[in-house]
Amino acid sequence: MEVELVRKAVEARAKAYVPYSRFAVGAALLSKDGRIFTGCNVENASYGLTVCAERVALFKAISEGAREFLALAVACGEGPCAPCGACRQVLYEFSPHLVIIMADGEGKNWCTMKLPDLLPRAFGPNDLQK
Ligand code: THU
Repeated sequence: MEVELVRKAVEARAKAYVPYSRFAVGAALLSKDGRIFTGCNVENASYGLTVCAERVALFKAISEGAREFLALAVACGEGPCAPCGACRQVLYEFSPHLVIIMADGEGKNWCTMKLPDLLPRAFGPNDLQK
């Protein structure tokens, strides 16, 4: 499972639109029903409108009806890199126990962590029930 997700994240990374940072990122998200959704970062001349690879993958998945996820692989840079804080928060909304596989841009090395360790004491949907 990990190998397949990393491979798909690396593949998605090749599609990144990154004329400004030149920092290409790819992501692959596994839903509970077995589908894999991919994403790449999409930059914009108005820099702040850039969307990260992880959120592109997640929003594609949500728009296709998936709601629960098991694991996400992200591929970028020289060494394994972790999703940014904004992406952690957005992923937490749907899958607070998500497994995050962090790989380098070529998918040669990776390490795995769980979302609660990357975003401890998170604010989420349950907090709004209080
Ligand atoms: N980026 C991602 O796609 N995911 C992350 O988790 C970190 C940052 C993108 C945004 C921007 O296009 C480039 O990497 C440099 O920040």
